[in-house]
Amino acid sequence: MAKVKIEYACTACGFTSPKWLGKCPDCGQWGSLVEEVAAAETKYRVASEGFPASKPIPLADASESASERALCGIAEFDRVMGGGVVPSSATLIGGDPGIGKSTVLLQVAEGLAREERKVLYVSGEESEAQVKLRASRLGVSGPGIYLMSETSVERVIAAASGLSPFALIVDSIQTMFTSDLPGAPGAVGQVRECAGRLVFYGKKAGVSVFLVGHVTKEGTIAGPRVLEHLVDTVLYFEGEKGHPFRILKAVKNRFGSTNEIGVFEMRATGLAEVADPSGLFLSDRSGETSGTIVFPAVEGTRPLLVEVQALASQSFLAMPRRTTLGADTNRVVLLCAILEKKAGLSLYNQDVFVNVAGGIRIDETAADLPLLCAVAGSYKDQVIPSGTAAFGEVGLGGEVRTVPMAESRLNEAAKLGFTRVILPASNAERLASKFPLALVPVHHVREALALMGKGG
Ligand SMILES: Nc1ncnc2c1ncn2[C@@H]1O[C@H](COP(=O)(O)OP(=O)(O)O)[C@@H](O)[C@H]1O
Ligand SMILES: [Mg+2]
Repeated sequence: MAKVKIEYACTACGFTSPKWLGKCPDCGQWGSLVEEVAAAETKYRVASEGFPASKPIPLADASESASERALCGIAEFDRVMGGGVVPSSATLIGGDPGIGKSTVLLQVAEGLAREERKVLYVSGEESEAQVKLRASRLGVSGPGIYLMSETSVERVIAAASGLSPFALIVDSIQTMFTSDLPGAPGAVGQVRECAGRLVFYGKKAGVSVFLVGHVTKEGTIAGPRVLEHLVDTVLYFEGEKGHPFRILKAVKNRFGSTNEIGVFEMRATGLAEVADPSGLFLSDRSGETSGTIVFPAVEGTRPLLVEVQALASQSFLAMPRRTTLGADTNRVVLLCAILEKKAGLSLYNQDVFVNVAGGIRIDETAADLPLLCAVAGSYKDQVIPSGTAAFGEVGLGGEVRTVPMAESRLNEAAKLGFTRVILPASNAERLASKFPLALVPVHHVREALALMGKGG
């Protein structure tokens, strides 16, 4: 919750003080200071200042210009945006420091600054020289890109008004400040106020605004999601440290689906699109070790094959460890309990480690079955044949349940040369098309575990 800023003002002479005083030091009157909400009430009046007042217009007369999207030419980015950048829209891009937000936006700037369009890139963190240095490294050039190193939101808006660019990129919103509000840059009030003004400016002036937001320790942009309702689109840029892969996800999109993801690889020359992420995530797979299986995940509408790895080793701790990377720890604890109770594996004295290769994170319940197969495979030291993939949700009774988008998962597995897929029986019954794969329907985890080590 943002705190309301309280001030005390003298009813006699207008003197203001940050704390309550019995006697006004200005006019000498006693008991004249009253509580007032400072600045908050001026906020939206200020945001709309300098623009003509809006009038109601009939729906039929409203212009549809918002539907003419501009493509930035980076297919993965355009897809996540819902098919290009909508004019006058506001987009927030969040992500950990160093993940590549400035990099991708500079590349997007280049893509947008074509066809005589201008893009203003404002950096509050770096000097023009530093941005230029990155631009040279990325090979970004073009007459339409303008750089500005500035932190005052008033000056940014004034500069943008003078230039009238197609897009205004502000890197980052946490460095922007307005002198109309108390508080240092990065304070919740400042961040919200600056974002509000930039978004308002963009809507009125027909400029697409991109705001970079740093993610806080809690994993949200600028504290309690203060910005997310202000903008049309919220993108998160994710990736594990030490892995070159970056995933761009839309978590809110007024102009498109929030299901799409874009996959990029960080290179010295910038972010490169990855058109075939499954092939990439599986490229290091050896296939001859126990405790690994491939899971055909679906990120949005896009199937993605990932390798799930597990290691169960004897524990010397009173409380055996359950450590996960890229999967939900609570889910793994639950799956271990199911293995213990319903499949008779004694994991109580085993440390269990789970890893999803490639630095991707899976949150789907469809990953239950492959996670469980991987843990059991490692515990029994059984090699699951390398052409096998699995998906399915597992209930507390050990039953294997239906998951959505089975056909896309099977298509992707077939495309990458998999020969056998273990899947929920209920999904197998409903499949409309034929697949060049051996389908192994299972009702219960026991059936899935009995299959391991067999076939190929
Ligand atoms: N010379 C370089 N060669 C290769 N990669 C680099 C180089 N300089 C920076 N990078 C990559 O760019 C990343 C920083 O990207 P940046 O766009 O500045 O992130 P953000 O704006 O999200 O903080 C670094 O983590 C690093 O992976
Ligand atoms: Mg940056």
